[in-house]
Amino acid sequence: MSATNSDIRSSETAAQGEGRIDWALQEMPVVRGMLPQLEAERPLRDMRISACLHITTETANLARALKTAGADLVLCASNPLSTQDDVAAALVEKFEIPVFAIRGESNEVYYRHIDSAIAHRPQITLDDGADLVSRIHQHHPELLDDMLGGTEETTTGVIRLRAMAAEGALGYPIIAVNDALTKHLFDNRYGTGQSALDGIMRATNVLLAGKVFTVVGYGWCGRGIAMRARGLGAQVVVTEVDPLRALEAAMDGFRVLPLHEAAQVSDFVTTATGDRHVVDRTHLELMKDGCILSNAGHFNVEINLPALESMSDSKSRPRPSVEEYRLPGGRRLRVLAEGRLVNLSAAEGHPSAVMDMSFANQVLSVIHLAQHAHQLEKGVHRVPDALDSEVARLKLAAMGLKIDHLTPEQQAYLASWREGT
Ligand code: ADE
Repeated sequence: MSATNSDIRSSETAAQGEGRIDWALQEMPVVRGMLPQLEAERPLRDMRISACLHITTETANLARALKTAGADLVLCASNPLSTQDDVAAALVEKFEIPVFAIRGESNEVYYRHIDSAIAHRPQITLDDGADLVSRIHQHHPELLDDMLGGTEETTTGVIRLRAMAAEGALGYPIIAVNDALTKHLFDNRYGTGQSALDGIMRATNVLLAGKVFTVVGYGWCGRGIAMRARGLGAQVVVTEVDPLRALEAAMDGFRVLPLHEAAQVSDFVTTATGDRHVVDRTHLELMKDGCILSNAGHFNVEINLPALESMSDSKSRPRPSVEEYRLPGGRRLRVLAEGRLVNLSAAEGHPSAVMDMSFANQVLSVIHLAQHAHQLEKGVHRVPDALDSEVARLKLAAMGLKIDHLTPEQQAYLASWREGT
């Protein structure tokens, strides 16, 4: 597809976008290090690929790598509020990659853009949240026959795909990039930890030190947010539904409370559960005046915003990413970024250095699909362990870190069972 067939806000900011993409590449040594071999071997030559991802500087470098590998690539946004318009402009104008994404697009335009990426008739899909895959299955099943495979970037997407597979509805093999250790242990934890706090601070400029900060959900994202909020001096509360995770949060030193108790004392509440209405009307009714609510989960469903709308007398926008709801009696609740991913909507998403590992997994997984998809059954697959380890090895080397190696004596000891005390 020609890059002239795109839908972006404007081409005027392409130079700025290009500069920021190059800046990000400096922090992405693993992806950068792959480029010469991708160019020499072109393992994705002429492969039609559609990618539904957050349009950020890091995604631009992934796109660059896929194009360098020979792919015929089209991009669309995986969230209406996460697109960086200057990056979209640079992709189209400087890298000749078609993009369908405009920051702030309506839901209708969001799906129209996904449909434009589907019109590319992809043989491989990259998804972040599974909207592209879901749309293909529901509206374009005729594409399934020629589809080689796909990748999925995020926890929510993998959960959706597993639900499709369990119903027998998933029509092609998908590699769960999210589940690679070099992805979720770093991107979900350190990436979300830094970028969610970055989004909350950019949106509000409110001091965290001494405040009560509640994290709803102690998965890898919640762990990262709790850790970084504590680092900024907040008193961190964790709420959970899973006893094991609750126990872990308690022993990590966090206060564990049910949300209806936490709601009454919190200055900040941030959700990271992947589920719907975890902050519900009953919690909203209990919150303190001025409480700042945000969401770091994939979809804007975690805070029950329709309930908040119906409870409120009025709504204003005191800062660009803040909506202040005024409730009867004068109590105010502040919602960041319309309850969408706060890290990508109010900041720039995860820092490049963690996306480097996530997107190195993407590049290796897409090449794996191009070479082995016919051997993979329809369903959700792991990133092969060898690829995951390779990403760790490359990242360590890029960081200039060396590790020890087992001696033959130690290897033999680990392989034996006879010797004890
Ligand atoms: N998801 C979270 N952060 C991201 C980023 N910087 N780029 C693309 N996807 C992301």
